Amino acid sequence: MGSVGAKDVPILMTPDGRRIDGRRWDELRPIHIVAGPLRQADGSAFVEWGANKVMAAVYGPREVHPRHLQENHRAIVQCRYNMAAFSVDERKRPGLDRRSQEISKVIAEAFDSVVFAEEFPRTSIDVYIEVLQANAGTRCAGVVAASVALADAGIPMVDLLPAVAVGKVAGEIVLDLKKEEDNFGEADLPMAMVPQSGRMVLLQMEGHMTRDELSKALDLGVKGCRDVHEKMKEALRTRYTTTDAGAEA
Ligand code: CDP
Repeated sequence: MGSVGAKDVPILMTPDGRRIDGRRWDELRPIHIVAGPLRQADGSAFVEWGANKVMAAVYGPREVHPRHLQENHRAIVQCRYNMAAFSVDERKRPGLDRRSQEISKVIAEAFDSVVFAEEFPRTSIDVYIEVLQANAGTRCAGVVAASVALADAGIPMVDLLPAVAVGKVAGEIVLDLKKEEDNFGEADLPMAMVPQSGRMVLLQMEGHMTRDELSKALDLGVKGCRDVHEKMKEALRTRYTTTDAGAEA
């Protein structure tokens, strides 16, 4: 009490277990996915997840740039995750900083492990993720958008790739952290999972958890990924059961 800055920390959990936005520990923020909004790309998706707004576009399989990255027996997956300068409260410096490079790399590796790359030797599958509005969990929203965009592009894959972040906030393990929870919580653990097999293809953690908490967090994340997976399938069903998913002529 009375310490400088303490008054700035919001109440993250009420005594009756409600989070800063009223959710329970195991609830996702609202998710809305549109498959195929961009006509020019080979595949695309737009994801609104809580206050996150993320667009993904996929091009390929196509010629590899730069050429020296080409592999003779398989396609490569390249990813560019970018946060728009206007996507956060304090203007973000435009361009690929270290954080964006790291996120691009882990997302490319996640997709590399699910696409049937051997079917397209000497080509590149290029995934672009643009975060237009950010509120924590953007790498997960990016994976979800990119995965639906890859499916929309007709790229053969083992499965869709749902993703979600779990974490520890005010001592509790919670699903799908929003910005205040990410900023002031104790841990943040984004993950992406192949639903068919339960294989984890992206798993990162910042902060501290006990082994028991980690185990609970992983179980919660798996459940969250399964719910996100349903929304992804629904978006693709909508895309292919309507004549035009809103793409402009
Ligand atoms: O977005 P994600 O949770 O995957 O990544 P993070 O590095 O844990 O960032 C958490 C949140 O911090 C982002 O979603 C943004 O809301 C915010 N952020 C920011 O305001 N400015 C940055 N340069 C980077 C992140």
